[in-house]
Amino acid sequence: MAQLRVHPVRHFTAELAVPGDKSISHRAVMLGGFADGETRVTGFLPSEDCLASLAAMQALGVTTETIDRTDFILRGRGGKLRAPLESLDCGNSGTTIRLLAGLVAGQPFTTRLFGDASLSRRPMKRIVDPLTQMGATLSCEGANQRPPLTVTGAALQPIHYQMPVASAQLKSAILLAGLQTPGLTVVEQPAVCRDHTERMLRHLGASLRAGEHRVELYGGGRLTGRDLPVPGDFSSAAFWLVAAAALPGARLTLTGVGLNPTRTALLNVLTRMGAAIKENIERDDFEPRGMLRIEEGGRLKGVTVGGAEIPNLIDELPVIAVAGALADGDTVIKDARELRVKESDRIATVARHLREFGVSVEEQPDGMVIHGGSPIRAARVTSHGDHRIAMAFSILALFADGPSLIEDTDCIKTSYPTFEEHLASILANDLAGKFRFGASLVNKVKQLIKPKQK
Ligand code: S3P
Repeated sequence: MAQLRVHPVRHFTAELAVPGDKSISHRAVMLGGFADGETRVTGFLPSEDCLASLAAMQALGVTTETIDRTDFILRGRGGKLRAPLESLDCGNSGTTIRLLAGLVAGQPFTTRLFGDASLSRRPMKRIVDPLTQMGATLSCEGANQRPPLTVTGAALQPIHYQMPVASAQLKSAILLAGLQTPGLTVVEQPAVCRDHTERMLRHLGASLRAGEHRVELYGGGRLTGRDLPVPGDFSSAAFWLVAAAALPGARLTLTGVGLNPTRTALLNVLTRMGAAIKENIERDDFEPRGMLRIEEGGRLKGVTVGGAEIPNLIDELPVIAVAGALADGDTVIKDARELRVKESDRIATVARHLREFGVSVEEQPDGMVIHGGSPIRAARVTSHGDHRIAMAFSILALFADGPSLIEDTDCIKTSYPTFEEHLASILANDLAGKFRFGASLVNKVKQLIKPKQK
């Protein structure tokens, strides 16, 4: 099992381009593969999760012309997918299983979707209910409606659905089904959650109107293939933003990052904690992207994070907890019960690991209270197969009193395959800062500590 040994840093200087956005990459292959004609995807995230979606779409009849791992052309099926010969492996990816369920719900065949042990513990009732109401037949093999999940498609009915949870995966599953039936499908969300599906559907020609809490889609039309440039993943950028914001004197520039406002609530949280972050939107085709810069990190102060902002920073909460541990005073995370049904129970895992690093924390049913500002003790923790836990605690380890060990880090490949490389370059810059090495020596060190390509 892979592990990461992380040394503390003093001098943090980095300019990084994080890899493609995970949520947008999933949607690019699903919607591009479903549309009429060709779609050119650029900046795709070649991570295990997104490759599972690509392989599933290929099994459903989509063909691809590869340029390289991030750029390719999809030949869309014009709304008619092909029955898969085998069950579709969704790996670790909740987005793959839930969005695909919506897509195949309107197709005249049966699809069985399964995944790894973590995915097999994740709730599917939230999508089974609306897709069943629309006319598809869904059944789960796991207890309490857990995967594997079998979907038998049908001629669907549009639906007016009030979502019980603010989940973009649920909203998207309903929209992908609604796309395939004439008439008005309406989805109401209890809080605004990421709107990548709505933006991409509109970009590909769907008739869709989106208000704050309500999305209306006129189904039965066709999507037309178009260029889909994927911006860098804000959720990957988040790890470096927290590290730089919390380290006095740190400097960070992130280029080409997705800056969709339904994803960037972390910027507001870090600003409330005292960080100064510059945001510059440079391009806005169907998704805004641009640059983020921290010119000087400093000491942070504790804040309360909760309410309507939670869905817009849901994936950042483990690293926000890390920011809370580094900040002076208490940080309260509340209204985040959804964290218990992510790739791991992220409330329990984060609280346990914070304690292992010497941080005092109280676990709550919907979040935690972190008493921050004490020295961080080097520790040895496991990811429990959860990529965001592995990366969040690698960031905390940068602030410890000695080297820490993060175990079971293979899972990082599900969302950020070059994380180790980026971490190694930051550690190399730190060495250069300590000893005032010249640039050529720094590059040699970077080569030496660069992890081998697997
Ligand atoms: C995602 C939505 C979120 C998020 C996940 C990706 C998406 O999940 O946590 O990592 O791409 O739609 P929920 O919709 O379950 O909140």
